[in-house]
Amino acid sequence: SNGNINVAIDGPAGAGKSTVARKVAEALEYVYIDTGAMYRAVSWYMIRNDILPEHVEEVEHHVKNLVIDLVPDAGGQKVYCNGEDVTTVIRSLEVTNVVSLYASIESVRTHLVQNQRQMALRKGVVMDGRDIGTTVLPDAEVKIFMTASVQERALRRFKELGDSFDITLEQLEKDIANRDKLDEEREISPLRCSEDAIVLDTTHMSIPEVVETIAAYCRAARDGENRS
Ligand code: CDP
Ligand code: CDP
Repeated sequence: SNGNINVAIDGPAGAGKSTVARKVAEALEYVYIDTGAMYRAVSWYMIRNDILPEHVEEVEHHVKNLVIDLVPDAGGQKVYCNGEDVTTVIRSLEVTNVVSLYASIESVRTHLVQNQRQMALRKGVVMDGRDIGTTVLPDAEVKIFMTASVQERALRRFKELGDSFDITLEQLEKDIANRDKLDEEREISPLRCSEDAIVLDTTHMSIPEVVETIAAYCRAARDGENRS
């Protein structure tokens, strides 16, 4: 081995996964992989081509030929769908509100999980999502399950959206609870805490506190790897 480890970070929407995973990757000089962005890119593509999530066979037919690339970029990552830059458009509420429907389709998951495993082969990745510790990288050396109360998660999203969006805190809380439910109850690799994951409730934690806590686990695991 090259002494590198893989880090899996799972949890519900707004728990702080992507913010924290990106900073942990920076601290370790690892590659950050946002798997939610991949499900968002698939959903964006299907919406644009008028392919409804209930048309499972049509979704399958299209997803097989979709090429989704994540390219590290100053302080973040750019997302490409068949060569087209979709970094911004995949964050729209239109995509957010249907992404869990497309993410529950078997062919979508098979295709994306295969890509995700490929990206982690050489190790040295911090990957965040819903099923990373359980399904995508069950052998990851560090697994974190990050949570926060639904009220706190809705509030975080509310602050993030700012005044430009016409949505209330109550509506956001409902949308998040609804997405949690779909993600937890779907048949294929639902959002679930892996038995060997470290559970981190971030409701009352600042971003630097969460980053430092996870980075410390990672450094310990990496040192262990280098000694063995
Ligand atoms: O950033 P946010 O928590 O809103 O969501 P995301 O991480 O961008 O993921 C969007 C959606 O993609 C989730 O609600 C899941 O339905 C799906 N997803 C998934 O099923 N499996 C993953 N590994 C990552 C995301
Ligand atoms: O990726 P995920 O949906 O889990 O969450 P995120 O997009 O990383 O974080 C949602 C929002 O919560 C961002 O605006 C973060 O800055 C904020 N956040 C926070 O206020 N405190 C934390 N401990 C973690 C995240």
